[in-house]
Amino acid sequence: MSLTYFIVDAIKVGYITWVSVILIRLIITFISSFSFIKQHRPPSSNSTQYILVNRAVASFGFLQENKLQNRLVSRAIPNGRLVNVFGVDNAFTTTSVITYRRFIQRVGPGLRNKNPEKWHKFFNSASTTLDLILTDFRGVRYSLPVAIIARQLVFVSTLHSFFNVDPKDVNLSDVGVATELINILWVQSKTEPQPDSLREGRIFLEVALQRILPDKFPCSAQDHPLNIIIPAYETMWRVVLLTFISAGFRDVDRETGEQFRKVLECVPKCFKGGKSKDMRTMAVNFSKEGLRLYPPTKSIYRAVPTEPQDSDFVTYDEQIIADIQECHRDPNIWINPTQFRPSRFLPGEFTDAMKNAYLPFSIAPHRCPAADTFAPHAIIVLVVVLAKGLGTLESGANVRFGDARLDGDTSALLPSGRLDMENWELEMNDAV
Ligand code: HEM
Repeated sequence: MSLTYFIVDAIKVGYITWVSVILIRLIITFISSFSFIKQHRPPSSNSTQYILVNRAVASFGFLQENKLQNRLVSRAIPNGRLVNVFGVDNAFTTTSVITYRRFIQRVGPGLRNKNPEKWHKFFNSASTTLDLILTDFRGVRYSLPVAIIARQLVFVSTLHSFFNVDPKDVNLSDVGVATELINILWVQSKTEPQPDSLREGRIFLEVALQRILPDKFPCSAQDHPLNIIIPAYETMWRVVLLTFISAGFRDVDRETGEQFRKVLECVPKCFKGGKSKDMRTMAVNFSKEGLRLYPPTKSIYRAVPTEPQDSDFVTYDEQIIADIQECHRDPNIWINPTQFRPSRFLPGEFTDAMKNAYLPFSIAPHRCPAADTFAPHAIIVLVVVLAKGLGTLESGANVRFGDARLDGDTSALLPSGRLDMENWELEMNDAV
């Protein structure tokens, strides 16, 4: 029996979680990497100049004619792998101005919605989701695979926000398969030549998604749920996990520790505004600091036209890269850049140089519509849900990284690649 039939069959009969997850992980072993397009990163000698060049890459300042159509082409080319692997047809992959505008109109208003009631619902839904996930895991394991848990939590929360899904209606085995596959396929999408297992993985993913969101299928490429799931869930899960681990289990200064305790008490109540504005700022600064130290989009890629873009001979053999992570960790701009310290975003401390260098959501004219409201609120809510449900060092929980350096040095930077957190195990304090 081929791997495909085994897993599809397993999904159908519903007894998958561990067996299929382990099998799917075998696919990772096929991964190899070859770079085939010339890519350029700006040299990082002078910080101010370096930031300016990176900003120019992100804002398409290198285009002779900086109009929407040309920007979409320059962005869609490096994102072509998302079309190959996930079939995504959204703002990131389209060259059609109409498709782009339709997508922005569809997601934009929800992302800017500031209604505090929404964050209470989001918090309650995420807490319920974590309870359900833990019921699944705690029966069979003493220490918990914290990356898998964070992925499932963020995935179901994404479904709640964008597809109005009630967590109680979701089969977590399917969520386990879908999240694992998105992770593996994403990593594989960067490899060349692409392994055959990629096509198989995509089929399993489709089967799992159809079971999770039956009302959304069949659908056209433009209406496929992955068009939203990829930019929303995929950007969020690692920063949520890394912020949770940084604030809850790593070496932070006393001020940050005290702030985190307050944040655990006040989220989501403080999103009401009014008197709780300072607490809201404090809470959101944890998201901002997570996004600074561990930006989900580490690099932004743009294809550069060799000729004016309306010429018949235009080709795109070169790509330029804005190195966001490097901008966020430049020691000439950030004080103790590897330290997790949310207070650096307070007025008076947050300098213009930092403002210019802080690019987790890119910049205009294509700045992320989730930048101001949705992402910073959702990240800290999910971090708080994890900290309350799983515990922190202070409450007696512990994280083992399976890595002598990380286990031995609590101030070491955490690795943030998509496969770097698979061995991290969280031991809950069962006495609590
Ligand atoms: C932590 C969370 C997020 C991060 C770090 C993030 C990051 C980014 C970045 C760097 C860009 C610019 C991409 C480029 O031009 O190449 C972007 C654009 C965009 N993001 Fe996000 N994003 C996040 C969450 C979301 C969510 C939840 C959605 C909802 C679907 C979303 C939808 C979009 C859209 C539609 C654009 C395109 C905007 C445009 O081209 O005008 N993002 N995001």
